[in-house]
Amino acid sequence: MNKIKKVVIPVAGKGTRFLPITKTISKTLLPIVDTPVIQYLLEEAVQAGIKEALIIIGYSQNDVINYFNTESTYVQKLSKDYEEIKYIKKLKQQIRISYVFQEEAKGLGDAVYHAKAFADKDDFALILGDDFVFSNGLSTYGIGSLCKFYEKNPNYYLGVQEVPYEMAYKYGIVKPETQISNCFKIDGIVEKPQNNPPSNMACVGRYILKNSIFNYLEKTKVGVGGEIQLTDALALALDKEDIYASEFDGIRYDVGSKAGYVEATIAVAMSRNDLSENMITDCNGLRLRYW
Ligand code: UTP
Repeated sequence: MNKIKKVVIPVAGKGTRFLPITKTISKTLLPIVDTPVIQYLLEEAVQAGIKEALIIIGYSQNDVINYFNTESTYVQKLSKDYEEIKYIKKLKQQIRISYVFQEEAKGLGDAVYHAKAFADKDDFALILGDDFVFSNGLSTYGIGSLCKFYEKNPNYYLGVQEVPYEMAYKYGIVKPETQISNCFKIDGIVEKPQNNPPSNMACVGRYILKNSIFNYLEKTKVGVGGEIQLTDALALALDKEDIYASEFDGIRYDVGSKAGYVEATIAVAMSRNDLSENMITDCNGLRLRYW
């Protein structure tokens, strides 16, 4: 059976929407309640049956490596008494984590190209470091939904979500052609269309990429925002490859934006038994009781 076993998670972007905190802390380490975003993303990959992860970091992002380091004497000591630390160790047994540096944030396409050696000859999953998918109790969600499509028909798959047309200028937007079961074959894709978007179906941080993507990335020129865009490489790929778009299960939050981050935090907190008892909502919004 065709199975996706590798995931690439780029977190080397500038994180300007979260300045000033991202001056010293990587955006992907910001906690949703008490767990950094990157940990949820790895859990999502594990749930999809993925065994190896490559995290693409910027030159000043040793904090990400340190977070997953469980070898120091202090952390060893903590792990005797704290389940939370044991859990990180367990996660690392389920998925092997490696890192590569993207020296300069030249765009998502450039970041993905840094995964060439890691991918070797394999197709792989891509999870963006600032799109969080809340499982809400589902066992298959986010990238897991796309892996299931790939298992039946190994091709390119893009996770999409409908957005208001007036918001399309913020996203990579696909042009759906034909519907095939729960997917759309696409015949166009454009990054941040300023007007006349081809649809309102936006790429939202989950992809299955075939190994051929590296050939197209090599031919991709600098695009919108002066960056090398993955969307432009996918547009080149469309000449020869079948690319499908599909919604996925789970609730997606853009945790790279402040509003999305707050929403995700509330959703996760409300779902947790240890916290939800202390939370009440009324017509004036959310209140916390913490005594
Ligand atoms: P974004 O463009 O949404 O995030 O990249 P950003 O650049 O970090 O944040 P802002 O817009 O300045 O606030 C989407 C994902 O791709 C990664 C980012 O870290 C994020 O996870 N990325 C982006 C890279 O790894 N390298 C890049 O050159 C660009």
